[in-house]
Amino acid sequence: MAPYSIMSICIVLTISLHFQETRSAINYQVINEATTTTGGIKFMEKLGISGAKQMMAEVNNFIWNTVLEQTNPVDRLTYNTLELVIKPDIVGADGIAYGNKINVSAIFFARVPDVKLGFKHLMCHEMTHSFQWTGEGRTPPMLVEGIADYTTLRAKTVDRALFEKPGQGDRWDQGYHITALFLEYCDTVTPSFTAKLNKMMRKTYDVTFFQNITGKPVEQLWKDYKSNYGQHK
Ligand SMILES: *[C@@H]1O[C@H](CO)[C@@H](O)[C@H](O)[C@H]1NC(C)=O
Ligand SMILES: *[C@@H]1O[C@H](CO)[C@@H](O)[C@H](O)[C@H]1NC(C)=O
Ligand SMILES: [Zn+2]
Repeated sequence: MAPYSIMSICIVLTISLHFQETRSAINYQVINEATTTTGGIKFMEKLGISGAKQMMAEVNNFIWNTVLEQTNPVDRLTYNTLELVIKPDIVGADGIAYGNKINVSAIFFARVPDVKLGFKHLMCHEMTHSFQWTGEGRTPPMLVEGIADYTTLRAKTVDRALFEKPGQGDRWDQGYHITALFLEYCDTVTPSFTAKLNKMMRKTYDVTFFQNITGKPVEQLWKDYKSNYGQHK
């Protein structure tokens, strides 16, 4: 009798520990290759290696659960390890993501007034690149960038007053802020539009995905978006 109950308790414990692990299984590595630079020093003072890892885990969960709505792990793009390297400088960029590797520039940390918020903002963008589906390379690069900036809108790491205004821009696939704001509009046409689009882009990409989700071709959505904000072009 007694040994039985102990055994079932052990099984229950093992199962729950296992689930805990699968929820945050990514091992974060943070390497500072810019320890003697102004930005690298500021990063260590205001955030540090463990603070950065903690923030990355937080952003990771935010992207999976809230932005991409991938509560089921089988829907996710995931890694055993995600490696962040702080470089003294990256020519022409604050950060660059390629799969499970992200490089960020120490110059970014030197520049931003709030290192913690700045890091969160940069991770929202770069880590979206790590976790988003890109139709095995077929998704237009500027849509990929739009989704990365969309995460920063959802995370409220940006000051919207300094952002482009909704309805601005020449094309839906202009990228970055322009496309991010358009995706927000698409979410109002069909709830969870952006998460649904990401899910459809797992294996391939086709512009008809917009119509598939909303019932309207992307050009029509763009026109509606422009006129919705009084921007006829
Ligand atoms: C990122 O940093 C690593 C480590 O310093 C380096 O080997 C790699 O070439 C860098 N990648 C890019 C794309 O800059
Ligand atoms: C959307 O795509 C799915 C999967 O390819 C398909 O089953 C469905 O019929 C499509 N719906 C519309 C409205 O096009
Ligand atoms: Zn990007």
